[in-house]
Amino acid sequence: MAGPDLSPSSVYRYPRYYAIGYQWNTAAECDFLEACVSSFLGSPDPVSRPRRLKAARIQGKPTARTVCRILDIGCGAGRHLLELARRGHQVTGFDLRPEMVAFVQGEASTLKLAVAVSVGDLRDVTVEGTFDVAVCLMDTFRFLLTNDEIVGHLRQVAQRLVLGGLYVTDFWIPMQWPQIGSEVYQWEQTEGKTTVRVFYLQHPDSIDPVSQTFEDELVFEVEEDGATRAIRGERTKTRLILPQEFRALVDASGVFELVGTFGEFDLDKPLKPSAATWRMVSVLKKT
Ligand SMILES: C[S@@+](CC[C@H](N)C(=O)[O-])C[C@H]1O[C@@H](n2cnc3c(N)ncnc32)[C@H](O)[C@@H]1O
Repeated sequence: MAGPDLSPSSVYRYPRYYAIGYQWNTAAECDFLEACVSSFLGSPDPVSRPRRLKAARIQGKPTARTVCRILDIGCGAGRHLLELARRGHQVTGFDLRPEMVAFVQGEASTLKLAVAVSVGDLRDVTVEGTFDVAVCLMDTFRFLLTNDEIVGHLRQVAQRLVLGGLYVTDFWIPMQWPQIGSEVYQWEQTEGKTTVRVFYLQHPDSIDPVSQTFEDELVFEVEEDGATRAIRGERTKTRLILPQEFRALVDASGVFELVGTFGEFDLDKPLKPSAATWRMVSVLKKT
């Protein structure tokens, strides 16, 4: 349950604005997940063997699509759940914010897509079911604040995966020390008559080098019906996780092997130092 250190930002009470502001890369991210399935998913047991579906183009290459059971942890407004359901996968998600869950249910119903979604906490994964793939995308993983929380979470996720199943995580990393706690990103997206400008801010005054945490904040500036309003989220404590440390934590979990780290949602772009790198996308395989 949400403790004093972890109340998700109140911008997450506005799923429609989140859905508009964050839609930019969803199809490519889902292409990447399908490419991971083709490249890394282990041999599932006969009961859980995913069906092969019609040929699809994944990251530019024709690929036989494998239908998977996919769990989205911290699913937000469901951009991945809805797209993956549209592609024929069996999808389940959970999020701490009931507003997000209700929004996903509404969208799934409107689009006539089968999506199972519920309220849940990534620090205590109680969702039922067995999955081929789990994902935790767009920085949600950094809400796990301590090594114990991370290792505990990995073990809980592994319990819900088939042997050889995949866990794909995606979180912010710095490429230079001065970036830590000091990043500011801004972008905008328009859908119909609504424009959402997203500001992501880290607060350097909150850096705690002992716990490796700092506070970040989301602000939505929304233009709609001729008016502009700002929705400011609270400062939220998040964890800095560095690449070598992540590998060590995955090893310490004893349940996953880190099979790849990427600087983007692209199997051809392994993680390496570059001014353009701002995230680490990791593919873990249940051992
Ligand atoms: C940056 S959004 C990412 C949403 C989605 N994964 C995406 O890629 O668009 C972070 C989400 O994590 C949720 N969240 C925050 N703390 C959580 C927790 N402890 N357990 C589950 N979800 C949480 C928030 O409500 C929010 O929807």
